[in-house]
Amino acid sequence: MTPRRGRPVLSLRDVGVRYRGGDGAMVDALADVTLDLVAGEMIGIFGPSGCGKTTLLMAAGLLETITSGSVRFAGTAAATIVDDAALRDFRRRHIGFVFQKPNLVPFLTAVENVALAMVIDGVPRAAAERRAMGLLAVLDMAHRAGNHPARLSGGEQQRVAVARALANDPILLLADEPTAALDSRRGRQVMELLLAIARQRLAAIAVVTHDPRSMDLFDRVVEMEDGRVVAGNASSAR
Ligand SMILES: Nc1ncnc2c1ncn2[C@@H]1O[C@H](COP(=O)(O)OP(=O)(O)O)[C@@H](O)[C@H]1O
Ligand SMILES: [Mg+2]
Repeated sequence: MTPRRGRPVLSLRDVGVRYRGGDGAMVDALADVTLDLVAGEMIGIFGPSGCGKTTLLMAAGLLETITSGSVRFAGTAAATIVDDAALRDFRRRHIGFVFQKPNLVPFLTAVENVALAMVIDGVPRAAAERRAMGLLAVLDMAHRAGNHPARLSGGEQQRVAVARALANDPILLLADEPTAALDSRRGRQVMELLLAIARQRLAAIAVVTHDPRSMDLFDRVVEMEDGRVVAGNASSAR
C-alpha cells in the first residue's frame, strides 16, 4: 500500500455497533456512522462522554466487531478478513494506536519500548533499536532514549507512545484522547507532531479529543452525539 495524498484509507458506511447493556437492553454505541479518511489528513472527533467516540475508533481500527454497515480499509472490505489471526496481522501491519495513557513497559527504556513490537515481530534487536532511535529523533526524543518511563515527563512518555505507534509505519493512526493527561503546551506539541506525521508520512489520522485548543490543527472536525455523527463533513474525499 503506497500512500498518496488524498488516497482513501478508511471508509465507514452506515456502521452500527450494538451492545447488550447491564439491564439486558440493547445499546447502540454507534448508529449509521458514515465516515471517510484519506491519506495525509488529520481529523478531530469531538463529543460528550459516552457518545461512542472510543467505539468509533475501535471499529475503524478493526478492534470492534460491527453489527451493521461496512468498513473498507485501503480498498479491502474488513468483512473479508475473517479469522482473528489474519485480522491481527492486518492491524499490526497497517494501523497504529495511541491511547490516553502511554502504557509504556516500566522496566524498558524509551528506545526499548519503541523497539519492543518490532523485536517480538522478529526484527533483529539492533535493527529494531536503530529504527526506534530514528522515530524518537523525529519526535525530538533522541536525547531521552535511554531513560525509563519513570524518568520521563508525561509529555515525553506520550511522545514515546507516538513513536511506538509509528513503528510499523501505519497508514492509519488512531488516537483516543492522547493529550488528556498533558498540560496545554505539551498537548499542543503532541497534536502538532501528529499533524506533521499525517503530512510527511501521508498517514490518515483520527484523533478523539476534548481539547478545543487544538481545533485549528484538524483538517475536519466530526461531532458525535448518542452514537451518531451529528456535525462535520463525513468526507473530504474527492
Ligand atoms: N463493551 C461494552 N459493553 C457494553 N456497552 C458498552 C461497551 N463499550 C461501550 N459501551 C457503551 O457504548 C456507549 C459508547 O461508549 P464509548 O464509545 O466508550 O464512548 P466515549 O468514548 O465517547 O466516551 C456508552 O453508552 C457505553 O456505555
Ligand atoms: Mg472514550
